[in-house]
Amino acid sequence: MSQDPVFVRKAFSSIAGRYVLTNHVLSLGVDILWRRRVASMVKGFGAGRILDIACGSGDLAAEIIKKIPQAEVIAADFCAPMLEQARRRGLPMLLVADGMQLPFEESSFDALTVGYGLRNMASWDGALRELSRVLKPGGYLLVLDFSLPQGILRAPYRFYLHRILPMLGGWLTGNREAYDYLSDSIERFPSGEEMCSLMKANGFAEAESIPLWGGISSIYVGRKEG
Ligand SMILES: C[S@@+](CC[C@H](N)C(=O)[O-])C[C@H]1O[C@@H](n2cnc3c(N)ncnc32)[C@H](O)[C@@H]1O
Repeated sequence: MSQDPVFVRKAFSSIAGRYVLTNHVLSLGVDILWRRRVASMVKGFGAGRILDIACGSGDLAAEIIKKIPQAEVIAADFCAPMLEQARRRGLPMLLVADGMQLPFEESSFDALTVGYGLRNMASWDGALRELSRVLKPGGYLLVLDFSLPQGILRAPYRFYLHRILPMLGGWLTGNREAYDYLSDSIERFPSGEEMCSLMKANGFAEAESIPLWGGISSIYVGRKEG
């Protein structure tokens, strides 16, 4: 299994209705705090026009709107059933769009966010270049995603990732394959310095990695030159 866009869209379509609840159960609600932290960082950048790409059910975009109500926040995803969940929670500016090919001109946004989305895109390099294209010079990209912890947490976390999470996710959504894919995609996805190098090679002058909870998730901050 890889990030085949047909598989990814189908997987998210099938779990859309239970996505939010399943996330909160699998992370014991901690995912809410991580999205809040990203929203606070976006606020700190003073961004006025923001794109949340791969917004899914809109959890991250909703936190950003809460923190910066005066900002223009566009939330986009290539999976219509996930966007429908975002529409139901009342997000104002929603768009069906592919992160690999965005329908925006160069330098359109002050800040971009991607929560648990970049990992699912067909090419990480291609997606980062496309995100850099639509970002204003000096603008920020924040990527929130799962990562593999180092040290003593690594083995128990991988046990949870490959044995418990697919079972629980499958039970809660009826689609175990989607959660097997999740575990495998987390193993493949670059983390820490590796992700920072990828960002620097694809349109970002600076990149920093912030591990969360011992590194089971990370926030990556990329700044476009300018
Ligand atoms: C795990 S969900 C994350 C949703 C939300 N950002 C959050 O924080 O919960 C991943 C989302 O990425 C979307 N996605 C994957 N590849 C995409 C792409 N190339 N363009 C746009 N959305 C994409 C999926 O449709 C799915 O809704």
